[in-house]
Amino acid sequence: MDVADMRTFLIAMVATAVAVSVAGTGLAAWSASAIKLESKSVRIPGPGRTYTGVGARVLNENCSMCHSPTFVDTQPPLSETTWKAEVEKMRKTFGAPIPPDRDAEIVKALLDRHGRPKTKTPTAPEAKGATG
Ligand code: HEC
Repeated sequence: MDVADMRTFLIAMVATAVAVSVAGTGLAAWSASAIKLESKSVRIPGPGRTYTGVGARVLNENCSMCHSPTFVDTQPPLSETTWKAEVEKMRKTFGAPIPPDRDAEIVKALLDRHGRPKTKTPTAPEAKGATG
């Protein structure tokens, strides 16, 4: 950006700032007369904002910034592999700042809270003839 461009840019910025403050003043005057603001209290569903009980600490530190505990606690029992993949998905897909060295602790906490899914035994009828 050369000096002339810079000047044009600054003029544009000042003009925008003036326009915004004029609009803001108008809006404030309008809202004061037309809108009545009231405080309302709302109840967020779920028993609380933080995990309690087994594994609470690690889940509060890594999950509750985005989820209510109820959201995670109402998931069905999942296998260790699935929970690992979930934690990885939170990090990769949703940008959760979960340090990888906490994964094992998180997965253990989730398994302890949810219980293990019933696994199929090799003799279960649906396991016979499986080709992978
Ligand atoms: C940065 C925000 C963020 C953090 C932190 C986070 N998640 Fe999520 N999670 C999401 C989003 C976004 C979804 C998708 C929500 C939806 O589908 O409504 C999701 C969905 C889920 C689901 C539902 C299944 C799925 O794959 O969509 C589970 C289970 C879950 N998260 C568990 C966890 C656990 C356990 C932690 C902590 C280790 C965690 N999340 C941390 C953002 C986050």
